[in-house]
Amino acid sequence: MRSLKDKLAVLLTPSELKTFFKGFDIVGDIAIIKVSNAFEDKAKNIAKIIMESHRNVRTVLRQASPISGDLRLRKLEWICGEDKTETIHREYGCLFKVDLARCYFSPRLSYEHMRIARQVKPGEVIVNMFAGVGGFSIMIAKHVEVKKIYSIDINPAAVQYMRINANLNKVMDIIEPIEGDAKEVIMSKLGGVVDRVLMPLPERAYEYLDYALMALKPEGGIIHFYAFEHAEKDEDPIKKIIEKVSRKLSSLSVEFEILFARIVRSVGPRWYQVVLDIFVKTTLKNEALSS
Ligand SMILES: C[S@@+](CC[C@H](N)C(=O)[O-])C[C@H]1O[C@@H](n2cnc3c(N)ncnc32)[C@H](O)[C@@H]1O
Repeated sequence: MRSLKDKLAVLLTPSELKTFFKGFDIVGDIAIIKVSNAFEDKAKNIAKIIMESHRNVRTVLRQASPISGDLRLRKLEWICGEDKTETIHREYGCLFKVDLARCYFSPRLSYEHMRIARQVKPGEVIVNMFAGVGGFSIMIAKHVEVKKIYSIDINPAAVQYMRINANLNKVMDIIEPIEGDAKEVIMSKLGGVVDRVLMPLPERAYEYLDYALMALKPEGGIIHFYAFEHAEKDEDPIKKIIEKVSRKLSSLSVEFEILFARIVRSVGPRWYQVVLDIFVKTTLKNEALSS
């Protein structure tokens, strides 16, 4: 059987093909395509070809705006198949129900979800500051016997789906969904109680780092820090982020060690999403952090 790429090659130029695959995702039975103005007129035919070559795809949507705002949402337009935005995505044995018009979800984070889950130790208490519909939280709860994963999100729809997903994956006793701003939730009820913090909101990484530190137990723990960085050809985005984080942690007199760092993905010309796994040896008292 001819691949999707071969079939689309009849319709698109090589450079259009390359651009197309950079923005093409399948979430559950929904395909999302990004078509630039240059080949907008071909969108319907592209969608038909996708549905022919991926029998599991029942809907094709067009992403009509960049992901934006605090809730990390995008505008989606129906192109072909069933007119819907809700689906169930499978990832490493976990099920994620999501309404793509109301919540953030990316199948491109699947490796990262599993990479983090593999590091977690039984009995840990974790806070996921920006949990979405539960990508990291459910993957961890399903694979490791942790005590609790406080899973915060400011988007009520994401919290609603996170609850559904905790049920679908039978981890309701481990996941505690919390609706609110991670800063406020940590200040009001999660100071000094966790072994591990996940910060999967690169846009607000530096602003929320103080609160991640605040959540860790006094003896310290691990922070998974996600941030964006720009790097010219001769620069290393990882090195740049390590320098910024090191400056910030040193200024707070926090003892730390960067255990691991990698580029999660490229997010634009010379822009990268990077993750640092940071071992924090000792934390400070809340007053010192928020002053
Ligand atoms: C990139 S998404 C998280 C993806 C999710 N961790 C996953 O693996 O699928 C970022 C999430 O942070 C939430 N968010 C944005 N600002 C927030 C805040 N101040 N406090 C808590 N959640 C916030 C958004 O609603 C969004 O669901």
